[in-house]
Amino acid sequence: EKVLAGIDLGGTKLLAVIVDAQGNVLASDEQPTHADQGAEKVIKRMVALVNGLLGERYALSGVGVATAGTLNPNGGIIEIATNLGWRDVPLGRELERLLGVTVTVENDANAAAYGEWKAGAGIGTQDCVFITVSTGIGGGIVSGGKLVRGFTASAGELGHITIDWNGPQCPCGNVGCLELYASGTAIGRAAAAAAEADPARGARMLALAGGGKMTSRHASEAAKDGDPLAVEVLREAGRALGAGLVSMIHIANPELIILGGGASHIGEPLLGPMREMVGERVIGSMGRGVRIVPPTLGTKAGAIGAALMANA
Ligand code: BGC
Ligand code: NA
Ligand code: ZN
Repeated sequence: EKVLAGIDLGGTKLLAVIVDAQGNVLASDEQPTHADQGAEKVIKRMVALVNGLLGERYALSGVGVATAGTLNPNGGIIEIATNLGWRDVPLGRELERLLGVTVTVENDANAAAYGEWKAGAGIGTQDCVFITVSTGIGGGIVSGGKLVRGFTASAGELGHITIDWNGPQCPCGNVGCLELYASGTAIGRAAAAAAEADPARGARMLALAGGGKMTSRHASEAAKDGDPLAVEVLREAGRALGAGLVSMIHIANPELIILGGGASHIGEPLLGPMREMVGERVIGSMGRGVRIVPPTLGTKAGAIGAALMANA
């Protein structure tokens, strides 16, 4: 049986799937990435992971790799991947040599957007935006029934929309990026700062963090119990996310926004203020019709999408 393989090369996790041409998952496996072992070792393990899933049963017809950061599509070169600490790795070419089939390397969120569009929450739409809020913020845009890839296959860097042009420095080189205000990392940072500035009001979150590093989970848990400071922190992040969505809606005029990552788990304390911004600030009727929904492929969206893109 002819199949496609998709690999999600994440900062902490390496996930591989084997799918059919419709994106149905036939097999999957995952292991820690250990990016610090260097690209060469990780690439060897990616190959072993795929070969292990193929076994005797499946014949490989193409491979897609989803990974964070900006890519140079010629030879599937990872240009900048801050979460892996790699630069200029010819990932596609190496995998092609080792696996003997064509390999396409795609931005993780673009791949997830493609997967959700073809096989998930976006089925049947022509214009949808995918956004994932996790460690960073990523995005992908489907416009007129096509994934927008851009000149160097890096379109849809929605986490690096400028929210404040005089804002703090982002690791990407820009300043005031959406990711600095609304990612999981940013929420954890803002919660820690707020609790430190006012330990009395921060008591609940400080207790949840138990002396360790405060994360978005602590803020989200406290907010669910109605803790006022946690609610404030998430409201600010939600409004920033909303401001980002307003820009995206103005750019792409989508009928559907698929919002994934940890954001969906935080729920109303983040999503309420986000929707409020969209309601208040989108021009004309563009904002009223747009539906904002959770993804349906879960953590496999990027791997599935990358595999399907290898077939496109
Ligand atoms: C990166 C994107 C990526 C996103 C989600 C951002 O920091 O710039 O390329 O899609 O994180 O992983
Ligand atoms: Na993207
Ligand atoms: Zn940035």
